[in-house]
Amino acid sequence: MNAEKTYRTIIEPFRIKSVEPIRMTTRRQRETLLAEAGYNPFLLRAEDVLIDLLTDSGTGAMSAEQWAGIMRGDESYAGARSYYHFADTVRDIFGFRHILPVHQGRAAERILFSTVCRSGDVVPSNTHFDTTRANIEYVGATAVDLPIPEARQPHVPHPFKGNMDVGALEALIASTGAEKIPLVMLTITNNSGGGQPVSMENVWTVSRICRRHGLRLYIDACRFAENCWFIRERETGYADKDVIDIARELFSYADGATMSAKKDGLANIGGFLATNDDALARQEATLLILTEGFPTYGGLAGRDLEAIAIGLREVLDHDYLRYRITSTAYLGRHLTEIGYPLVQPPGGHAIYVDAAALLPHIPPAAYPGQALVCELYCAGGIRAVEVGSVMFGTPDPATGEEKPAPMELVRLAIPRRVYTQSHIDYVIEVMADVYERREALRGLRLTWQAPPLRHFTARFTPLGARPT
Ligand SMILES: Cc1ncc(COP(=O)(O)O)c(C=O)c1O
Repeated sequence: MNAEKTYRTIIEPFRIKSVEPIRMTTRRQRETLLAEAGYNPFLLRAEDVLIDLLTDSGTGAMSAEQWAGIMRGDESYAGARSYYHFADTVRDIFGFRHILPVHQGRAAERILFSTVCRSGDVVPSNTHFDTTRANIEYVGATAVDLPIPEARQPHVPHPFKGNMDVGALEALIASTGAEKIPLVMLTITNNSGGGQPVSMENVWTVSRICRRHGLRLYIDACRFAENCWFIRERETGYADKDVIDIARELFSYADGATMSAKKDGLANIGGFLATNDDALARQEATLLILTEGFPTYGGLAGRDLEAIAIGLREVLDHDYLRYRITSTAYLGRHLTEIGYPLVQPPGGHAIYVDAAALLPHIPPAAYPGQALVCELYCAGGIRAVEVGSVMFGTPDPATGEEKPAPMELVRLAIPRRVYTQSHIDYVIEVMADVYERREALRGLRLTWQAPPLRHFTARFTPLGARPT
């Protein structure tokens, strides 16, 4: 018998049963469409996009088994079978006692923070996602980001760039007082910090600090499976472990979690709020009934609960995770070879281009990230998102001028199980062409905005000649 040979090529561990056509367009058509959309790709029709890398949230492809689950969904108002399938699955992986389904992650955040937070409180995190921050600020509390210093240096690699700065956490607790901190949060992976993972050692250390000060630790678990795969790949002692056991260990250090199932739930909608605290769960369930629904469906249909229960198992499959992380790294490696400055190393769900370094001739006030996003669409119909001064620029109270964001990034987020390697090869080819012409790219002027979260609806006009 021949010996088992391991081949280098990591294939998509699925075949395609159902397809959705992509409508081809020309550069000329795309230029017209983009001008009509005010040079803001959020305002394009999705059918005018060839490769949609706007977000990995809710954009994944469901499996045949999930679609079968959709048919099996129990739509009973109370006590549906699908709820028990969902809650038992969540309990098995995450280990928390109380599981409240919600329609998406931000609903879990709203219920959590309006229950535990008071005006004047402080909530530390490695880095809060923008909806988390908004929900904390909505109740008058302050959201504080405490990433490790490497997280603020895009080109400096670090295996666990999503870690929290534990020294900074201790200092914050000492200066604020534990009574002002309703909970400490860890976002895994750290989306706003480049999709970077948090190590088990960091979760454990943060958890020890929390225990010592009588503080709760919550995990924002959106991309928990990707984070646990990185732990398996990069942290000593985990290489032989099953990802489900890594997840069980990680969540055993926490008191609760918020989850958007639109990411590692492999579903198009849904999420949950989890806790071990009986009294808190009762309070949260009251709010859930007020705005989401009865606690056994919480704003979701029974079929959605089925899809999530199945997706949470599928996402822990090693072949799936190996393919997922390898395909994101593949895009990152090729873009780096072309010369693109990227946040290093590539994250789990997305590649982040440093547009300020790529386009030094475009100042932050002319939005280099938006210029790149527009050119990617015109050149190849690729939709990405600016994560820079369009998204985070703020008026300076002293001068009235706009204060630029700390970084000018462009995010290419990869939907789960949607695109094949040839789609990604096409993205690489388009981006190689754009790279060659980078010096000809021009910035934009903001002509209309509606803060807050202005990036969704802002409109622009190009400055100077556009490249051809
Ligand atoms: C880290 C993180 N937390 C929370 C959320 C909010 O989840 P949702 O969009 O389901 O409300 C997101 C969404 O992208 C996220 O990436």
